[in-house]
Amino acid sequence: MTRLISFAAAPLLAIAVLSASASADPIADRQALMKDQGKTIGSITPIIKGEKPFDADAVKAALTHLNEDAQKIDVATLFPAGSDKGKTTASPKIWEDNAGFVAAVGKYKKDAAAAAEANPADLESFKVVFNQVGENCASCHKAFRIKKD
Ligand code: HEC
Repeated sequence: MTRLISFAAAPLLAIAVLSASASADPIADRQALMKDQGKTIGSITPIIKGEKPFDADAVKAALTHLNEDAQKIDVATLFPAGSDKGKTTASPKIWEDNAGFVAAVGKYKKDAAAAAEANPADLESFKVVFNQVGENCASCHKAFRIKKD
């Protein structure tokens, strides 16, 4: 019975940990999220390059997933003060100009949400949507990341 209860409680505990405001390992968490974004972008780049045919459903799914990741970026949780130390390429500028970083995240969230809603129907319109959201990756990395992409 005890075992049954702990099994039942485990998922609830996991949810509690995930939704807690402090992350046990914010560097690993934000890097995993960024990596997932990189994977999503990587899945649709061949379409942009003309190496794969335009596929409206695949594009929609990728942009939707990208937006899901974007909306998970909570600066206070994933970039708490002090998390510039360790295995990270986060620039100290994130904390020196925290308002600027928060604004960059806010703009990215807005553009990612718009991209997920855009439903581009052909390659030309997809390119516009892709560039608009992708520009955020480059500009934020340039301003707030030590290493270049
Ligand atoms: C608002 C700022 C911001 C935006 C927007 C942003 N990134 Fe990042 N990204 C960062 C920072 C800061 C790091 C460094 C994280 C660390 O090492 O702690 C990073 C790291 C990464 C990494 C390396 C992760 C690792 O394992 O070290 C990848 C890949 C990445 N970003 C992809 C993307 C892609 C793709 C996009 C756009 C779809 C994007 N990022 C948008 C700030 C941003």
